[in-house]
Amino acid sequence: MDYIFSDCVTSFRSSAIRDLMSLATRSDIISFAGGMPGNELFPVEDLREMSQNFTRKEWEEAMQYGPTPGNPGLLAALKEFLRKRNFPVNTNELIITTGSLQGLNIIAKLFVNPGDTVVTENPVFIGGVSAFLSYQANIVGVDIDADGIDIEKLGEAVKLNPKLLYITPNFHNPAGTVYSHQRREQLLEVMRGTGIPIIEDDAYGELYFDEKSYHTSRPIKTWADREMDGQILYTGSFSKIFGPGLRVAWALVPPAICDKMQICKQSMDACTPAISQVFAQKFIETGKIETYINSLRTVYRKRCNCTLQAIDKYFPKEATFVKPQGGFYLWIKMPQGVDEEVLFKKVIERGAVFVLGSVFHPDAQKNGYIRISYCNTPEDQIDSGIKIIGDVLKELMTK
Ligand SMILES: Cc1ncc(COP(=O)(O)O)c(C=O)c1O
Repeated sequence: MDYIFSDCVTSFRSSAIRDLMSLATRSDIISFAGGMPGNELFPVEDLREMSQNFTRKEWEEAMQYGPTPGNPGLLAALKEFLRKRNFPVNTNELIITTGSLQGLNIIAKLFVNPGDTVVTENPVFIGGVSAFLSYQANIVGVDIDADGIDIEKLGEAVKLNPKLLYITPNFHNPAGTVYSHQRREQLLEVMRGTGIPIIEDDAYGELYFDEKSYHTSRPIKTWADREMDGQILYTGSFSKIFGPGLRVAWALVPPAICDKMQICKQSMDACTPAISQVFAQKFIETGKIETYINSLRTVYRKRCNCTLQAIDKYFPKEATFVKPQGGFYLWIKMPQGVDEEVLFKKVIERGAVFVLGSVFHPDAQKNGYIRISYCNTPEDQIDSGIKIIGDVLKELMTK
C-alpha cells in the first residue's frame, strides 16, 4: 500500500542516524561512531542504592503521571544545581523535557512555520536539524571554525530574518570545539536587538577537561546581560552526565516561553517519565552527581588523550583537527585526495567504524570530514581501532 505521508515527514533524514547506531552496536567492530556514554560508566550501584532507599511515597510518585513542567522535587533540586553554576534561575523558568531533543522539538514547534528560516551551525548536531525540519524549516548553515561560529557569515544569515539561531558553543557535536569568549561576545552583538531567539544547546557543558576549558566554556546564559538573557533559550541534559536511557533534560527559558512550552509538551507526552525524574532528583540531592561528573571528566580526558596519542602514531600528518578541550568528539579533516566514503567502507571491512562528516552537514553534503567519538571506546581498543583508520588513510594517500 502507498501511504501518503505529510510534507514534514517526507523531509526527514533520520535513517542515517539509525543505520549508524546499528553499526556502532555490532559486537565485532571497534566503534568510534556512537555519541553515547560508555555502558560501563553508568552509576549502576548508585541507582541500585537509591532505589533501595525509596520510600513507598517516592515509589508512588515515580509510578504516577506528574505535572507537565516537571516534578516539583526535581525542579527544586535542579534549580539549586543550576544556581550554583550561576544560571539566572530567578528570572527564567525551568521545564523538564524528555531528552533535550524534545526541548529542541518543542522550541521549533513554538516558532517555526513551514518555510521559515532557522540558522544552525555547519557542521551541526543532526538531531537538532531534524527537529527543525519536522516543522518544515528552511535550514541555513553557518560555518564554524576552531573559535566558534563565523561572525561575518552569521551577520549575513541574520539578514534573512530567521526565526531561530541554534548553537552548541561547548564541546561541539561533531566538531569538538569550544567557542572562545570573544566569539561568544561577538555573537551576542550580532544578535542584539534582532529579537531572534538563540537556542544554546549545552548537552556537553559539564564535560570540560581542565580549569582552562572550564573558564572558556561558561554558558552564555550564565553571564549575558538582562536584554540578551531574554533572547537565550538554554537547554541542558542528564544524558551525558547520568544516562540517556532516563530521557531527562531541561530548558531554562524566559517565563513566557516556558508557558508555551508547557502547552506544547502537554499534547506530546503529558510529562517526562516520573520514575526517571525521581532518580535524577535523588542523584542531585545526595550530591552523588557532582562526584560522578568529576569521574566522567577524568575518564573522557583519558580516552581523548589515548586517542590523540594513537592518532599521533598512526595518522598521516595531513589529517588535521582541533584538539578537544572536553566532550566526546574529534572532527578530522581528510588529507587532500582522500575520499572519506572510500575510507569508511575499507575501515568497516577491517573492523572499525566512525561517522561520515556528511551526516552533520545541514544539507547532508559530503564535506571531507569524519567524526571520531572517543567516549564509548575502552582504552584497550582505542589504539587498534585508530591504527585501522590510520593505515587505510595512508594507503589511500599513496594511491
Ligand atoms: C548537541 C546535542 N544536543 C542534544 C542531544 C540530545 O540529547 P538528549 O539525550 O538529551 O535528547 C545530543 C545527543 O547526542 C547532542 O549531541
